[in-house]
Amino acid sequence: MAKKNKFYITTPIYYPNSKPHVGTLYSTLIADVAARFAKLMGKEVFFLTGTDEHGQKLQEKAAEMQMDPKKFIDGMIPAFTDVWKTYEIDYTKFIRTTDPEHEQAVAFWIEKLQEQGDIYKSEYTGLYCVPCETFVNIQADSPKDEKGNHVCPSCKRGLREVAEESYFFRLSAYEERLLAFYENNPDFIMPKERMAEVVSFVKSGLKDLSISRKTVSWGIPFPGDPSHTVYVWGDALNNYISGVGYGQDSEQARREFAKWWPADVHVMAKDIVRFHAVYWPAFLIAAGLPLPRQLLVHGYILMGDSKMSKSLGNVVSPEDLASWYGVEPVRYYLMRQMPVSQDGHFDLKDLENRVSADLANSLGNLLNRMVMLALNNGLHEVEAPVSWEAKSSHLREMCQETYRFYWDEMHKHYFHVALSEVWKFIALTNAYFHEMQPWVLAKQNKELFAEVIAATCNSLYSIAIMLVPFMPKKMDALLSSLGKVYDSSVNYDEVLRKNDWNRVFKFTKLEEPLFIRPETRVPKEDEVPAVKPEKAVKVQSEGPKTDLISIEDLVKCQLVVGTILTCEEVAGSDKLYKMQVDCGVHGVRQIFSGVRKNVTQEELIGKQGIVVANLPPRKMPGGVSEGMLLYAGDNSGNFRLASVIGPVDNGTQLK
Ligand code: ME8
Ligand code: MG
Repeated sequence: MAKKNKFYITTPIYYPNSKPHVGTLYSTLIADVAARFAKLMGKEVFFLTGTDEHGQKLQEKAAEMQMDPKKFIDGMIPAFTDVWKTYEIDYTKFIRTTDPEHEQAVAFWIEKLQEQGDIYKSEYTGLYCVPCETFVNIQADSPKDEKGNHVCPSCKRGLREVAEESYFFRLSAYEERLLAFYENNPDFIMPKERMAEVVSFVKSGLKDLSISRKTVSWGIPFPGDPSHTVYVWGDALNNYISGVGYGQDSEQARREFAKWWPADVHVMAKDIVRFHAVYWPAFLIAAGLPLPRQLLVHGYILMGDSKMSKSLGNVVSPEDLASWYGVEPVRYYLMRQMPVSQDGHFDLKDLENRVSADLANSLGNLLNRMVMLALNNGLHEVEAPVSWEAKSSHLREMCQETYRFYWDEMHKHYFHVALSEVWKFIALTNAYFHEMQPWVLAKQNKELFAEVIAATCNSLYSIAIMLVPFMPKKMDALLSSLGKVYDSSVNYDEVLRKNDWNRVFKFTKLEEPLFIRPETRVPKEDEVPAVKPEKAVKVQSEGPKTDLISIEDLVKCQLVVGTILTCEEVAGSDKLYKMQVDCGVHGVRQIFSGVRKNVTQEELIGKQGIVVANLPPRKMPGGVSEGMLLYAGDNSGNFRLASVIGPVDNGTQLK
């Protein structure tokens, strides 16, 4: 039974044979976001992560380094704890399978199984994958390499023949109980589609599982026969119970275990589903323990195509990413870009676009403009009006509705969808802010001006709370500029559900912008066009002479559709208009055009134009221009805004 106000979540324990990378960071971040969300919902949380330190792979790695395995691994641990610290991974406990408490728990578990006759001694002959630490059963359709040798069905690497005495766990005896468990718990594996593979694997017949190794000395001694060590998966999976006190003598450990087990969520990628969906439940049933509520299985992060990995090499390390873009923008990108259920490409360009468009532009600029506008007009504090205008009320309703969508998606761990809901609401808040033109109201209607500021603040407040699990420090900063704090003892589910807009906000100018647009770090080689410009051919034709450009040159230019929300004349210039243009995911941009002699404001306001969205920001009289609108003027004096023939979503890219 899940315990109501408690939430226990785990990551896989990683092999410390190499440093953490973006893939391991991804799993760990998912668990961190889920844990922080549970806290936001007022739950008490236990978040377990750690390292899987025994077995043949680590024994061989240490031998290769000519080091004692424990010494080698001790040296690797800071690589994990440092990266987790950098990325604000707020785990409760970091477990190492060499911890004495864990070793004791594993021995206790094996002894229990031995007593009840679940373990017997026999001989294992077959193939073994060292990188996956897996015994591989060969079937008719098992994959082979080009020489015709069998390879590991999971990692496709070579296999080793093993013939040794081994202790076996009677896995075959648990087939029926496992099938009944899947049947009664259809949500055990998320996404649900993965359940079918597991059921068919179990239905195809389970063989007893070898759970000791005689030829591997780096492991937990097998109880009653120290010439064997416990097979590394029989050791590792038990971290989820030993980490919360299982198999330890003290009264405190017993209480802790009763409090936290069973786990609510085990996070992992699809590579290790079988261990968690078949072996782990069988181990637990055998031990007479309740089973975990859910496995959250995500796809792989692919490091782009070979071109990218060649040019980037080890550049895409979590540390480099953090130093280039800041920790929380990277957290945001990983949770926003990759659907939990599918493989996702890690792409620096996407990351940079997300940081510029979603963070710096849509969210950061809105906050900054609102706070500066309020302070510049002497509004240091704002409270709710006696009653809200229709447009403000609508925004308020959308705020509540957004939270409901967000809540649903967060509970399913569809973080990318939850974030996209929040960003839809950020776009709405931007649209409201620009439509209401508070900079005009500030001079003409102080009361409505204050209302627009108050409505924007209330929206930003909900937005910030919903984003706390993803970007905790940035949201602290956002809230503090509104005179608010995130209080970890509050149940924010109640707060956001109620959506009470009677808050008082007190403004402080942020020391520095909440988010800044990153400089591009995409290596130049990546952008080398297929046809080098100097090789481009000059064409002779009837029309104007033109240098041909390559398609790569064209795609460098980011052309997106945006709606012109406002258009003002710039004082002190007879040419310039200053416009606010809603470019959807690219944010609401401030754009200047020197077209006052050619087109009227009415011809522009409310129209969709084409915006060049990746020009560097440019200082103009009256502000910074954040893009360029395109126009066409002919020789007969016709001058028009370039547009699309029918409406499309703002932010749509031209292609
Ligand atoms: O399997 N994309 O450890 P491991 C997404 N020790 N996730 C990735 C990834 C990628 N490219 N690469 C790794 C083990 N991961 C065992 C686990 S648990 C009792 C024992 C993540 O170091 C993902 O969570 O090989 C995957 O399941 C895990 O790292 C494998 O880590
Ligand atoms: Mg692995």
